Amino acid sequence: MSAQPTDNRGLSLLSGRTFLMQTFGCQMNEHDSERIDGMLTAAGALEVATAEEADIVVYMTCCVRERAEERLYGRVSTMAGLPPAHDGRPRVVAIGGCIGQRDAERLARDLPGVGVVFGTHNLGQLPGLLEAQLETGKTQVQVVEDSDEDATSLPSRREQRWHAWLPITSGCNNFCTYCIVPYVRGREKSRPLEEIVAEASLLVADGVREITLLGQNVNSYGRDIYGRSRFADVLRAVGETGIERLRFATSHPKDLLDETIAAMAEVPAVMPQLHLPVQSGSNRILNLMNRVYTREDYLGLVERLRRAVPDIALSTDIIVGFPGETERDFEDTLDLARQVGYAQAFTFIYSPRTGTPAAQMEQTATHEQIQDRFDRLVAVIQDTAHACNQVDLGTVQRVLVEGASRRDPSMLSGRSEKNQVVHAPLPMDALGSQIPIERLTGTMVDVRVDTARTWYLSGEVVALPEGQGRANR
Ligand code: SAH
Ligand code: SF4
Ligand code: F3S
Repeated sequence: MSAQPTDNRGLSLLSGRTFLMQTFGCQMNEHDSERIDGMLTAAGALEVATAEEADIVVYMTCCVRERAEERLYGRVSTMAGLPPAHDGRPRVVAIGGCIGQRDAERLARDLPGVGVVFGTHNLGQLPGLLEAQLETGKTQVQVVEDSDEDATSLPSRREQRWHAWLPITSGCNNFCTYCIVPYVRGREKSRPLEEIVAEASLLVADGVREITLLGQNVNSYGRDIYGRSRFADVLRAVGETGIERLRFATSHPKDLLDETIAAMAEVPAVMPQLHLPVQSGSNRILNLMNRVYTREDYLGLVERLRRAVPDIALSTDIIVGFPGETERDFEDTLDLARQVGYAQAFTFIYSPRTGTPAAQMEQTATHEQIQDRFDRLVAVIQDTAHACNQVDLGTVQRVLVEGASRRDPSMLSGRSEKNQVVHAPLPMDALGSQIPIERLTGTMVDVRVDTARTWYLSGEVVALPEGQGRANR
């Protein structure tokens, strides 16, 4: 189980080997994958696009719901059935992330063909573990309960050059009764404010136009190191770095302070958008979930947010079928969703997680009842999302272009300030030919919206970045 140091001069066993990252779960895992990408690239390995080409496949796993776990086991079994990598050596499968953290020994025992298992607190050890596996052919398992690595920055290779995730906290102290995250990510730890600002400045200098601050509960940022939440200070200080767009996730309603709402209104880079998971609209269920706020508290927050940032787009997470949820509780949720008028919602059917308090609570609804509630909730969210998009018909939206539309390569696709997906035909240059998408990706264009559907807006580009030719004004 020994881990050897990685040789960053490209002399390591990883040099020249190919690897593929497969990421599941939340933005924390997305960012951890970027850090692994950065470390393996620094060690001389090359990222490839398919498992067939890869000598090493790294799975970043999620166990927040049962389905997420099933997907991992399915993928790894398929991988074991593939022929070995091109140099004739067996492909190395590495499993990290939250299932790695929780089930390290079991994974190594039950999934033949797994070469390395690591956890959420020791990403930095992965290059050494891979080298040890390559050298000895033996399965390497290394998981730690806690480490200083969580709150620091490892080198990272960004998936998109214009966007960066910036973790400000790791872990979670909230212990919502349904949730596994505090058990697999540990207690909340904040990074010092100066370090966050320094990293943001470097990112801006490197051409990043949008930063998403990350944490399981960004609103409690700083409590562990400063004795009080200083999230508003983070928004103001990062806003000063010259970043054009600033977003953050996730916000817990119980910790969203008025000073944070004020900073959201006053810092120009903070986008008029907030993900504010409500989970349920019933006070009885919120209490059983240990969410520590009431529906009235939540609706009060929404009112204050709208007063401060009038066009704010709100999104949320909702769990349907929590143990003991009655039809009446569920109707409270539907009613709250309509009242708030969400632009988007991630809706989940409750999934019992072993070791959490809710897993001991009694389920009183049937599968059919829960599925029916879920479908009704989705229909309400579709209505509210559609209504939110309708408001923007005829307006001009500033869009950060993310690339070509997946369905139609002659269309660009990007995000508005409110985080809506926006499509538009590729505009023409001064000579009348279509501007290639590569030149537009990562730039801002203005789009006049002529169509508003439930999940996207579309229209014509009316203004381009300087020097990019003609817009159809
Ligand atoms: N820290 C964030 C995200 C946590 S996980 C937050 O507090 O909002 C993302 C979402 O998964 C949660 O908001 C919740 O809606 C959902 N979730 C978590 N555990 C779940 C479970 N056991 N069953 C169903 N959904 C769950
Ligand atoms: Fe899970 Fe609650 Fe922490 Fe979010 S705040 S990660 S839902 S325990
Ligand atoms: Fe999943 Fe872990 Fe995130 S359990 S939701 S990947 S913190």
